[in-house]
Amino acid sequence: MTSLAPLIAPSILSADFARLGAEVDAVLAAGADVVHFDVMDNHYVPNLTIGPLVCEALRKHGVTAPIDVHLMVKPVDRIIPDFARAGASWISFHPEASEHVDRTIGLIREHGCQPGLVFNPATPLSWLEHTLHQIDLVLIMSVNPGFGGQKFIPEALRKIEAVRRLIDASGREIRLEVDGGIKADNIEAIARAGADTFVAGSAIFGQKDYGAVIGAMKQAIAAGRRPEPLRA
Ligand code: DX5
Ligand code: ZN
Repeated sequence: MTSLAPLIAPSILSADFARLGAEVDAVLAAGADVVHFDVMDNHYVPNLTIGPLVCEALRKHGVTAPIDVHLMVKPVDRIIPDFARAGASWISFHPEASEHVDRTIGLIREHGCQPGLVFNPATPLSWLEHTLHQIDLVLIMSVNPGFGGQKFIPEALRKIEAVRRLIDASGREIRLEVDGGIKADNIEAIARAGADTFVAGSAIFGQKDYGAVIGAMKQAIAAGRRPEPLRA
């Protein structure tokens, strides 16, 4: 059973970059909990986005909410201290992109951030076998990484359920985050599968009224997390 409070993490990939500070303020004022920060290097994924300077700029702008840095870069380790200094809260990475996964997890922790592992749609959960006891976040990709606005891959639901079982069995407080194609109309099923942290880019920033879409998402999550009624 999911126990951590649900969090909405808008992906700023779909924000208006010319007005990024105001966009982040607006989405947090509208009820978002976490800033999801997509870092792409045009090498590990075929797109290029933002780095530590932008993270630092958001902190200087006054953002105090957790910043959830999703690294889609290869190699990984070189950039971790820079993001820690820039004010990152959580740093997650794709295990395929690191030569030494255990070392990378340790590096994130040493620099005062919370480490997470990210799983692409075809990446097996076996990476968790020797890492789950060390991480604070598992991020399941429900699209292939690289772009916002893609369609949710339904097979991700089975994977979320499997991770939920692993986390519950571990007895540790580990967030289960899902990223890609999340909308108000599929978020209930994602919550029911066991997720507690929901990334949404285009579904939030593509609407005029951020509060309305975040409110609808929170309601749907609550419905998905409601315990099943007891049968007579
Ligand atoms: C994809 C990114 C996602 C993406 C989500 O590589 O990791 O965070 O921006 O965007 P939507 O919600 O539009 O699928
Ligand atoms: Zn992401």
